[in-house]
Amino acid sequence: MFNLILFGPPGSGKGTQSENIIANYGLQHLSTGNLLRTEIANQTTLGLQAKQLMDQGQLVPDEVVIGMVGNFMDAHREAKGFLFDGFPRTTAQCVALDALLKQKSNEINVVLALEVSEEELVKRLLGRGATSGRSDDINESIIRARIKEYHDKTTAVATYYQQFDKVVHIKGEGTVESIYADLKAEIDTRI
Ligand code: AP5
Repeated sequence: MFNLILFGPPGSGKGTQSENIIANYGLQHLSTGNLLRTEIANQTTLGLQAKQLMDQGQLVPDEVVIGMVGNFMDAHREAKGFLFDGFPRTTAQCVALDALLKQKSNEINVVLALEVSEEELVKRLLGRGATSGRSDDINESIIRARIKEYHDKTTAVATYYQQFDKVVHIKGEGTVESIYADLKAEIDTRI
């Protein structure tokens, strides 16, 4: 198995670049944001609880997200590898993910960390919010709250994987194609 974490702040291009990577390498995409939005669309209890937090730009509790990821991985046992997008987002989620992978004698191979300036992130997300209907993109204060959650809780994920020398920083500004070429070069040396 080849397991990759695509890491970066909100709006750094994780979802956009995931599409290219999945298409090229046949990995199973696991986006916790997408899984949570499906729960919201289906109006499940989990979805209704998550929506209140997501609409304020706050993280959903670790135990909820970890349970959801475990179920998803169980449902995709045949996967030849996972691309984790938006997960893990806290140190507790890193520890839980390592344990889930270890059960299958697997591990994270690399963390590709997209780096984008805060002003560019806000510009991109406000731009998407004009058409996407995503309730966490509609105003700048929610977007900045998401970025603050990233700095307060999620940058610890890079620190966690740095101790295992698994983090590669990639410039996340430029064309989608040029950023993908940089990501691809890093994947190709490891897969
Ligand atoms: P999630 O869905 O994961 O959203 P996010 O991290 O805020 O990321 P985005 O989807 O907004 O951005 P992205 O980096 O994927 O960029 P994208 O490619 O879309 O999470 C949403 C919420 O769910 C969280 O706030 C939290 O509440 C909850 N949640 C999710 N996972 C959780 C977890 N593990 N634990 C706890 N809570 C969790 O691009 C953004 C825009 O930029 C697009 O319009 C795109 O077209 C544009 N763009 C992309 N690349 C470029 C480029 N190179 N140049 C110009 N524009 C570009």
